This record gives sequence, structure tokens and C-alpha cells, in this order.
Amino acid sequence: TTHVATADAEGNWVAMTQTINTNYGSLIVVPGTGLILNNEMDDFAIAPGTPNAFGLIGAEANAVGPRKRPLSSMSPTIVLENGQPILTLGAAGGPTIITQVVQALVRRLDLNMPLDQALAQPRIHHQWSPDAVRIESRLDDNLQKSLTDRGHKLTPIANMGVTQAILFDRTSGQFLGLADPRIPGQAAGP
Ligand code: DON
Repeated sequence: TTHVATADAEGNWVAMTQTINTNYGSLIVVPGTGLILNNEMDDFAIAPGTPNAFGLIGAEANAVGPRKRPLSSMSPTIVLENGQPILTLGAAGGPTIITQVVQALVRRLDLNMPLDQALAQPRIHHQWSPDAVRIESRLDDNLQKSLTDRGHKLTPIANMGVTQAILFDRTSGQFLGLADPRIPGQAAGP
């Protein structure tokens, strides 16, 4: 999965998340093109109670059927202030996309963190099943303790997901593009 965040001086903004779902998708390459076909059918629930590749459990509403689209976690986002875009972001990482995007938004907009900090902060994720809180292991010890004191089971991992974002500072008229510090890469632009 790849998220692309773009914005230009004319006021055009695009938030686009593209995916072949799991690594190498369906493992089928269209001959002569190099294009890998996705295995996006996995986003449907193949049977009630049977987890998909990301551990998500679905039921009838997400069952395979004609003219249906599977449930998706992809969340390309553009934030408007008084009708004007000020922030765009999105993420890769299956179901953690939703929690990544929400955490980046809350950290930037509600907690007023600089955008680079908002992306770098340790991430937390819960998806109902399994009944465990996935955390980035550098999450503050006190926070970890308060979660376990409340009965949560923690599953630490090194890194969770990849979020890309662009912020527009209306005062200076400057764009700030940021690539997730967890993987190599950098924002392109002036
Ligand atoms: O639409 C979805 O929710 C999934 N197909 C996304 C898969 C994904 O993000 C895998 N990658 N990192």
C-alpha cells in the first residue's frame, strides 16, 4: 500500500491511497507489463468469524457478493479550514491506517504538535480482535503501565505503518511536506 499526498500553489490537493493489499498481491504479474494484480478480495469476509490477512473478522455485511465493495481501512484525508485545505494525509498498514490517520490528526490539530512530531510519535492500535493493544515499543512506560493496569494486553512492535502528510501554513503561505520517519523517503517539492 502506498499513500501519496500532493498539493500545489494553485490550490490543487490530492490524497490518494493505492494498494495491492498484501505483499505482491495475488502473486500474479500481467505478462509483459510488470503489473502485479491485487488480492483485494481478502478485504471481504470469506465466512463469518474467519479472519482475513489482517486479522479482521467480518460477517454478512462484508460477505462476498455481486455488486459489492469490500470494507476498506484506506482513509485518504484532506482537512479544510473555512473551506480551504490546510492538511492532507493518509497511510499504509491495513487496519492500522485508520488509527494512524486519527492519531496524526489528533496530535496535530487537537494537541497542536508540529507535524513531524505528530508523525513520529509512537502509535497505538486496537481492532477489537485480537483483544490486544498493539503499540510501538517506544511508547512511554507510564502510558504502557496505565494501559496494563486497566487490563489491556499489550503487543509491542518496532514500527507500525507509514503515514504521509502535507501541511499548509496559511500565515506564511508555505507548504510543509513530510514523509513518515519510519521508512526511508522524503517529501519532494520546493
Ligand atoms: O483496503 C484495505 O483496507 C486494505 N486492502 C489495505 C491493505 C494495506 O494497507 C496493506 N499494507 N500496507
